[in-house]
Amino acid sequence: MNLSPRLKTIAQSIKNCNIVADIGSDHAYLPIYLIKTGKANKAIATDINEGPAEISKKRIKKYGLDGLIQVRVGNGLSVINEDEADIIVIAGMGGILIKDILEAGITIAKNANQIILQPMRDSRILIKWLIDNSFEIIGGEVIKEDNKFYEIIWTRFKEEHTCQNNVVKNEVYYYKNTDTLHEYIDKKINEYKKIIDQIKATNEGNNQMRLEECIKELNGYREAKQWHSLNAEQ
Ligand SMILES: C[S@@+](CC[C@H](N)C(=O)[O-])C[C@H]1O[C@@H](n2cnc3c(N)ncnc32)[C@H](O)[C@@H]1O
Repeated sequence: MNLSPRLKTIAQSIKNCNIVADIGSDHAYLPIYLIKTGKANKAIATDINEGPAEISKKRIKKYGLDGLIQVRVGNGLSVINEDEADIIVIAGMGGILIKDILEAGITIAKNANQIILQPMRDSRILIKWLIDNSFEIIGGEVIKEDNKFYEIIWTRFKEEHTCQNNVVKNEVYYYKNTDTLHEYIDKKINEYKKIIDQIKATNEGNNQMRLEECIKELNGYREAKQWHSLNAEQ
């Protein structure tokens, strides 16, 4: 089975896992791949909706993996028992929904050896929540698939870890310094430049707050790009 680059990056980071839980699995591609490649011994594919769960069940059966991958229907981590999953994946959802799922199932999240998150938006809010709740950011990466950028975050609960920067200035500080990351930052810079030009062109006083916000964001991405460039040179 061929995985998309986004899911493949997640899959390739998983090694020697006993039980992986893929929350909001939808099609169950990731758990099937992880079992077939021997990266995990067992998997739980969950979804809040019956429809995707039924399709997953059929696909898992087709691959003859029904003894190794369980499908469960329910909200977030509520369908996972304590200490059951050593790796938890939550991919393809908004960052705020991911944060809410982790918050509601905090004991299960804390017990996992590793949590892999792929927020579709609001990654900064998610990273801030993780840090505020003593989850260590082990790594982050921006990857490109079909001309779209995707952010992936690796984390785990570590009560006594020294606090990383509690004020999350910009999510990109947590991401691996790659050409794709620089491309992503450039895209953000260009987007904010365009918005700023548009706001200035309309010349409406009531957009002042939005203008200031956008300038702050623009400068934030510029600073982060410079920081990554300096780090790459060292
Ligand atoms: C866009 S799909 C992502 C599928 C897969 N994880 C991926 O990254 O390709 C999001 C899936 O999450 C499910 N979902 C949404 N909210 C959920 C929740 N609170 N708990 C479990 N699943 C949820 C949806 O039903 C949908 O199938």
